[in-house]
Amino acid sequence: MSVIRTFTLTLGTGLLLGAAQLTAAPTATMLADTCAGCHGTDGVSMGPATPNLAGISEIYFIDSMVAFKNGDRYGTVMQRIAKGYTDEEIKLMASVFAKQPVPKTNQETDPSKVALGEKLHKVNCHKCHDEDGALPDDDAGIIASQWLPYLNYSMEDYKSGRSVMPKKMKRKVDNLTDAEISALMHFYASRL
Ligand code: HEC
Ligand code: HEC
Repeated sequence: MSVIRTFTLTLGTGLLLGAAQLTAAPTATMLADTCAGCHGTDGVSMGPATPNLAGISEIYFIDSMVAFKNGDRYGTVMQRIAKGYTDEEIKLMASVFAKQPVPKTNQETDPSKVALGEKLHKVNCHKCHDEDGALPDDDAGIIASQWLPYLNYSMEDYKSGRSVMPKKMKRKVDNLTDAEISALMHFYASRL
């Protein structure tokens, strides 16, 4: 939260500096900087429950923020945060994260789960999460090398119905056991 407060303070100082700043709308980078306290500078978070944003497509970013805003997607903090930004500001921020390279996170995964996850991925998930979940063009988020606890929370939110899954994804997920889902998350977390 302190980052958002700093941002407000910066604007406040701007007001003191002169009329030019009064009319200047915040730039895309200024807006995206307000997220750095949790998502890290350059969209790479310190984890483990806060996702990296670097490399996510503009469409996925905008869809996510709108879904947080209207409650289709559960979040511990993001529903409230997303409500603080206009659609125009969300579009501006989207361009910043889309330009950042997808990061490799430093975390441990279980090799036997990774192996099972890889098999399950090829059968059930690769069509929409291509390149092992690293392809921004899928507009399905970047799940390759994403933080494992975050991935697990996302799946729990989908399975419990707190967040709404795409229908075709739900059909696949409903056929998998909890152990299989866990293996899939280890697989994605280990990629890149
Ligand atoms: C207080 C910490 C915090 C701040 C500040 C914050 N976020 Fe988040 N963000 C989270 C957490 C935690 C999640 C996981 C969902 C949840 O629990 O709300 C998340 C999830 C997201 C996601 C989903 C990513 C994905 O891969 O699906 C997006 C997009 C996002 N945040 C954008 C933003 C933007 C844009 C800002 C700044 C305007 C921002 N966040 C500020 C903590 C934060
Ligand atoms: C028909 C396409 C499709 C299939 C098949 C699919 N997904 Fe998804 N998935 C998506 C889309 C689109 C999203 C973006 C979020 C949304 O729209 O709710 C997503 C989001 C996710 C997320 C959350 C990403 C985040 O950052 O929070 C995870 C985890 C995930 N999928 C895992 C899987 C797994 C595991 C499978 C296979 C069992 C799978 N998906 C199959 C389309 C698909």
